[in-house]
Amino acid sequence: MAARRVAVIVSSDSGYRGEREDLSGPEIRRIAEENGYQVVSSVILPDDREKLEEEMRRIADGNLADLILTTGGTGFSPRDWTPEATLAVSERIVPGIPEAMRAYSMQFTRRSMLSRSAAGIRGRTLIVNLPGSPKAVRECLEYIIGSLDHGLDILTGEASDCAGGQG
Ligand code: MTE
Repeated sequence: MAARRVAVIVSSDSGYRGEREDLSGPEIRRIAEENGYQVVSSVILPDDREKLEEEMRRIADGNLADLILTTGGTGFSPRDWTPEATLAVSERIVPGIPEAMRAYSMQFTRRSMLSRSAAGIRGRTLIVNLPGSPKAVRECLEYIIGSLDHGLDILTGEASDCAGGQG
């Protein structure tokens, strides 16, 4: 079976302007590749809801990736709109993934409850928001990534039931 395709979207005004080196995008790439995913694209966008929606739609509607992982823009800043952009483009929401990330992350920091991250499905693409820091990316993504396979198998029609599922 071909490697699952993942597209990375970094939402960061300072990263977009080149004022701060983006370490979260590369961290997603590293973890995704270690888990057998192929990173097909990676972009840094400003914290701009319209641009985020546009990029998610482009990837999902073109069937350019099975999974979109975003980082950043999930907090309380007036410029944090990634969850809203995600939910606006999603046809179906997937609350369990962010619920699991937040619950698991409480052992690292109680501030995990401050991430408003969302997840949803558009067409055959799953979109998952991760918080913005490389540490948060590591903690959240390493926890969920092993369980995404099965969802993607069902989403892309490669599996039709959950018999014998683990993990
Ligand atoms: N989740 C984990 N696992 N680890 C973290 O360090 N940081 C929290 C939270 N989630 C954190 C985390 C903090 S401090 C904030 S403000 C929110 O994510 C939102 O982050 P964002 O605005 O960069 O997306």
